[in-house]
Amino acid sequence: MNYAINSQSGILRPVPTIARYLTFVVADAAHVRTALQTLRDTVDGNRVVVGLGEALIECLDANIPGLKSFPAMVGAGVEIPSTPGALWCWLRGDDRGELLHETRRIAPRLAPAFELVQSVDAFKYDSGRDLTGYEDGTENPHGDAAVAAAIVASGIQGMEGSSFLAVQQWLHRMDRFQAMSSEEQDHSVGRRRSDNEELADAPESAHVKRTAQESFSPAAFVLRRSMPWSNETELGLVFTAFGNSFDAFAAQLRRMAGLDDGIADALFKFTRPITGNYYWCPPLRDGRLDLAALGLR
Ligand code: HEM
Repeated sequence: MNYAINSQSGILRPVPTIARYLTFVVADAAHVRTALQTLRDTVDGNRVVVGLGEALIECLDANIPGLKSFPAMVGAGVEIPSTPGALWCWLRGDDRGELLHETRRIAPRLAPAFELVQSVDAFKYDSGRDLTGYEDGTENPHGDAAVAAAIVASGIQGMEGSSFLAVQQWLHRMDRFQAMSSEEQDHSVGRRRSDNEELADAPESAHVKRTAQESFSPAAFVLRRSMPWSNETELGLVFTAFGNSFDAFAAQLRRMAGLDDGIADALFKFTRPITGNYYWCPPLRDGRLDLAALGLR
């Protein structure tokens, strides 16, 4: 699968030890083109993975087929927001100081075109668990299957090797989670925390029953690269799913919200999304972002 060579390599690699997510909005559309050219020449797709939102693409009078805005959804007792975000950077590493300096390098380069509106610090927990203790990523596709799920194969120049990314910051209420019995917790996820075994007798609201990738028609495979986050008082999960389109993610989210059959995902008992964004992650060419699809050469 040669087209994977052109993808931003941080997408297919395992999650790093620590990360920082930066979200920018457009502050001055007149400078967007210049700022993007600067960004293109300074990020490598591995230490920094970049996603571009619809509001940014609109500034360039360009069109990325398949890119749209994040769909806000409301189900019974469930609210899924769509929030502003024109440009997204995922800083990946293992040294907090480096991430700090990278932030200080990137933000001024993007000014005055973009304004930083959110910075979230994230980390790998244990072998790759959510902060509730459940292993996250078990059913991710691997190898060629991961490439097929996450990377665009289209022969269109500037699109091949790109990826469509859904991002949501989820805020956990650990008090609610901890008030549940361990059986109720396992039934919310649909797996046993102690040994990660899938529970055949889990209710239909169990998260892995809601999202079982093969149960959709067509099958809805994505590549998840989520990481726990925290600040002084709050914690949760930054959920990220890379796809060759947004279709698989959107189908999963609809079912989680209960919009297909009235059954909401049991995760909503103790966690909820506070942001929601869609981005297009451009491919690489000669080690730099390839922005040909935007008319930037
Ligand atoms: C706080 C939010 C979330 C948490 C804590 C969480 C946690 C988990 C856990 C523990 C698993 C089981 C192990 C694994 O296969 O990874 C899982 C599976 C999965 N999750 Fe989530 N998840 C969250 C949000 C989401 C969202 C928003 C989506 C997509 C809309 C999603 C899609 C999936 C998929 C596709 C699977 C694999 C299902 C399968 O094929 O078996 N998750 N998640």
